[in-house]
Amino acid sequence: MTKTMADHISVMLNESVDMLVTDKDGFYVDGTFGRGGHTRLVLERLDQGRLLGFDKDPVAISYGHALEQEDSRFSIVQDSFANMSEQIVRVFGVEKVDGIMMDLGVSSPQIDDAERGFSFMNDGPLDMRMNPNAGVSAAEWIASVSEKEMADVMYQFGEERFSRRIAKAICEYRAHTPILTTLQLSKIVAEANPAWEKGKNPATRAFQGIRIHINNELGDLEVGLEAAANALKVGGRLAVISFHSLEDRMVKRFMKLKAKGPELPRHLPIRNAHLDIKFKTIGKAIKPSQSEVSDNVRSRSAVLRVLERVSD
Ligand SMILES: C[S@@+](CC[C@H](N)C(=O)[O-])C[C@H]1O[C@@H](n2cnc3c(N)ncnc32)[C@H](O)[C@@H]1O
Repeated sequence: MTKTMADHISVMLNESVDMLVTDKDGFYVDGTFGRGGHTRLVLERLDQGRLLGFDKDPVAISYGHALEQEDSRFSIVQDSFANMSEQIVRVFGVEKVDGIMMDLGVSSPQIDDAERGFSFMNDGPLDMRMNPNAGVSAAEWIASVSEKEMADVMYQFGEERFSRRIAKAICEYRAHTPILTTLQLSKIVAEANPAWEKGKNPATRAFQGIRIHINNELGDLEVGLEAAANALKVGGRLAVISFHSLEDRMVKRFMKLKAKGPELPRHLPIRNAHLDIKFKTIGKAIKPSQSEVSDNVRSRSAVLRVLERVSD
């Protein structure tokens, strides 16, 4: 277990960095800097190599700036990893890199700081933005979105099967009182949710759906995965850690498509060579060890997948 600054415990730290670093003098990207747990271990493994970190969150960026002062091989930008192609060229002056890390979702300090509005346990302003200086907060979105879109978001991104009932209750409530805090929202959801899953807060799925929507997490992931694959050198690797089934499904499908090509009807006389396959997956999906899960319960749903470019 490795605690980084401000108590984010990095998930599958050694497993992911062991798979990622293949050239001590290469160029690397950490698409989700957070508190820099993965970044620091990559830097330890590098000699002349360089690392570019990304985060949307201004607090994460301030930790990144502190690390820039300590280690001149490291740079940080406040941007989405979806924009990595342009940033890699701007910062490194090259188009291709040796390794890209993505440790998706939100960090523990983001969830634990009630002021950020991600938590259904501690009361705070209903914000949920990774970058509170851009875009629309959860409170603003909830105040203005249609009941149908609200339900769709909770269903699609939170896999909440009672999304319609919950959206109806939220809209009835907002008709007389503005919903401005996390506990206000989690109470409305809990009261409207007829099936409380064992061991889960009844607002878990609704909050997940809204958070993913507010931060365009799956849209960024789709663009970011493609940008990452394009930015890899031959022999370069992309390591992705996902935390819920929607993310992992996207990552798994993406890597499978890159490594095996599109599913074609069996009777078509096409061989792999004709599909122009440029990638392979490295090993199978990796899950955290039992001891990691008992040390850090937030790691329990994590899945690590790795893709390698094999030709240009
Ligand atoms: C799970 S944490 C990463 C923790 C980090 N690996 C560590 O060990 O400290 C995810 C971080 O990625 C950031 N993030 C999520 N999606 C992002 C995106 N599309 N672009 C840039 N940063 C993103 C979040 O703000 C958060 O700080």
